[in-house]
Amino acid sequence: MSGIAIMTSGGDSAGMNPGIKRFVEYSFECGLKPWVIYDGLEGLIDDNIQPATHAIAGGIIYKGGTVIRSARSKRFFDPAMRQRAFENLKAKGIERLIVLGGDGSFRALDVFYREHGVPFAGVPSTIDNDIYGTDYCLGVDTALNVIREAIDGIRDTASSFNRAFVIETMGRDCGYLALVSALTSGAEICLIPELAYDLEALKKRFVEEIAQGRSYIIAIVAEGVKFAPQLTEWLEEEIGMESRLTTLGHIQRGGSPTVYDRRMAFEFVTYAIDGLLAGRDESVVVYKDARMGYESIDRVANGTYSISPMLLKMGQKLVR
Ligand code: F6P
Repeated sequence: MSGIAIMTSGGDSAGMNPGIKRFVEYSFECGLKPWVIYDGLEGLIDDNIQPATHAIAGGIIYKGGTVIRSARSKRFFDPAMRQRAFENLKAKGIERLIVLGGDGSFRALDVFYREHGVPFAGVPSTIDNDIYGTDYCLGVDTALNVIREAIDGIRDTASSFNRAFVIETMGRDCGYLALVSALTSGAEICLIPELAYDLEALKKRFVEEIAQGRSYIIAIVAEGVKFAPQLTEWLEEEIGMESRLTTLGHIQRGGSPTVYDRRMAFEFVTYAIDGLLAGRDESVVVYKDARMGYESIDRVANGTYSISPMLLKMGQKLVR
């Protein structure tokens, strides 16, 4: 039986566990021998690789994180470590790989493919939703729902006081999480790297709105803007509202995968296995224009993700 292995790499995201479940079950259905690689690329180097059983796939669908753990590996940059990784796979008859991770992980496996010829399929998985070629990355819906719940909670206290609340979201250099959260939570301000903001215009707007009865402000700031503490101070000093800052941090990476992420995990992984079996040696499964498909690793690795013009247009009213 031909061996196929799965690993999760880089920042974990909700949906990885449902993806692992689907991988084990669908591999058996396709007559493949599934393996799991623990600790991402680190486990590939250290031979932390086990045959997958139905037991591994049981009782994990509702869990956040990844039961096979993840890592950000520096050692994999070393050709000698990649050689070790290859020997580990060869000894077990593992001929194909699936990686749930971000573009950094895909690039690493692309180098590995060129050196050792091990075909792989990438499944875009990151709460940042910043991977070129796909409109959706696994885990984003769960992260958005975690953020929504936090903002709803903060709004409860904000509306009970005359206060401004600044909430910093993750997303690295991408403003997707912040923008979608701001729009769907009815925030008054949203600062993201993709949109220029105008503090003078915001001040004018709030002075007018406060005169008309506005009693609180919710501002969402993407971490990539690096301006959350400054905005909190600005709201206090320039707008004259007592202000508080909440940095949501790693809670955004946790939580039970939403129904949408469970379903997307199933579809992504099914496409990954089907693609490998059809002879696609180095592709990334993408969800584009409401359809699953494949994108070349070169395009994914070299392209730059951009938020849809429609979302950016709607975000314009939150930056000025
Ligand atoms: O890429 C996912 C992410 O959660 C980013 O949003 C964030 O900037 C980063 O990872 C945090 O990394 P770490 O978990 O290593 O602190």
